[in-house]
Amino acid sequence: MANTVTLTDNRNAKSYDFPILDGALGPSVIDISSLYKDTGMFTFDRGYTSTAMCRSSITFIDGEKGELLHRGYDIAWLAENKIFLDVVYLLLHKKLPDDLELNDFRKELKIRSFINEKMLKLFDAFPDRAHPMAVLQACIATLSTYYSRDMNYDDPKEYMELAIRLVAKLPTLAAFYYRHVMGYPIVYPDLDRGFTENFLYMMRSFPHSHVNIKPIEVKALDTLLMLHADHEQNASTTTVRTVGSTHSHPYSCISAGIGALWGHAHGGANESVIKQLEMIGSVENVDKYIKKAKDKDDPFRLMGFGHRVYKNYDPRAKVLKGLRNQLIDEIGIDSNLIKVANRIEEIALTDDYFISRNLYPNVDFNSGLILKALNIPTEMFAVMFVMGRAPGWMAQWMELKEQANVKIVRPRQLYIGPKDITPEHVGPKDVELKSRK
Ligand code: CMC
Repeated sequence: MANTVTLTDNRNAKSYDFPILDGALGPSVIDISSLYKDTGMFTFDRGYTSTAMCRSSITFIDGEKGELLHRGYDIAWLAENKIFLDVVYLLLHKKLPDDLELNDFRKELKIRSFINEKMLKLFDAFPDRAHPMAVLQACIATLSTYYSRDMNYDDPKEYMELAIRLVAKLPTLAAFYYRHVMGYPIVYPDLDRGFTENFLYMMRSFPHSHVNIKPIEVKALDTLLMLHADHEQNASTTTVRTVGSTHSHPYSCISAGIGALWGHAHGGANESVIKQLEMIGSVENVDKYIKKAKDKDDPFRLMGFGHRVYKNYDPRAKVLKGLRNQLIDEIGIDSNLIKVANRIEEIALTDDYFISRNLYPNVDFNSGLILKALNIPTEMFAVMFVMGRAPGWMAQWMELKEQANVKIVRPRQLYIGPKDITPEHVGPKDVELKSRK
């Protein structure tokens, strides 16, 4: 007999069996898709803490062990041995590229890195200092208008091209908007530079001048992008899949994902970490803020700590900590912020409040410090997250596309509002247009 879980309704002693499904790794799941039909009840799971919303073969996280695999490859191994574009290829093409494939992929990304010049006019419509995440969300939604007519989204070749275009154009859009805000001349992609170096070049360069980009800076940003490339069914990926389930344009799904990522509980945390470290200001103030973070009546939270899935050190944070220390040695990072960050980490890793709740530093704790060292403006930190996460979102969207029997995402609710209190209740059979007296 197949493995099942039996649910007994104690009100009437009726029992219902639900099949248990086993994945390749991770906890088994109870298939409750017939629950409502069988029992007339829904499940209640705030924030989907116990819900698997899809089948996926892209990324696996073991939150207890602090392990992260992309298509079976451990993130620490990838960070040590591969570059961001290898991981982009891995996510999109389901295998690591050989040298020839990586070279062709690189060329393809380069030729697609330009944007239609009409899109530059979009920037003029935003107020001064509009947040880059809002702008990026609008830009990607706008990009869908350039790639909508005559496209067949059911053709894998066409949607792979859309994925590659997105990854290629994001750095250009991000750098162009930064230059627009600063009033600097736009710098076009340099096809002789690698993907990550080219982004730093577009951010920093001025016509007819030499631009200084150190190899350690390229390595740091490249690793940071790689560490953000995918992360299973987090809030923004779930948003991409949810919008994808309605058969919307893929870029509209990505634009929605950017909106979800912007929040400071998700990708906006890297910006909040730096703002918080600056607000704390000095090592002497750390205790006061730790106390605030532990106070149940105070909404203050330590940014860059805690994770829904990791109940151990986030493996991405471990890699970034090593990189952060390397950057301190080679180019220097604001040492006061580092001192404050180190003190917070030291306390949090030994304090019972944080230990008992498994609150370890997450990826955002160190990414902000690294981006600051690279002179990326704080408001653009989450944009860096988008540049890293875009291939993951597209891989998830493509997986959704390739799966059979995809259902529109449409959860139910536990209604707690008023019962029907309409005066002169009109039943559905009696509906007729009445003129107002
Ligand atoms: N500082 C202080 N207390 C915290 C924190 C924190 N950063 N995070 C969680 N807690 C406490 C929380 O108050 C609760 O305590 P209690 O059990 O006494 O009520 C307990 O820990 C569990 O918290 P939760 O909010 O139920 O946990 P969650 O899984 O719903 O939230 C989280 C996860 C990441 C939203 C949350 O830890 C948080 O807000 N962290 C700060 C923001 C942050 O760094 N976000 C980046 C996440 S990693 C990047 C990404 O994937 O987006």
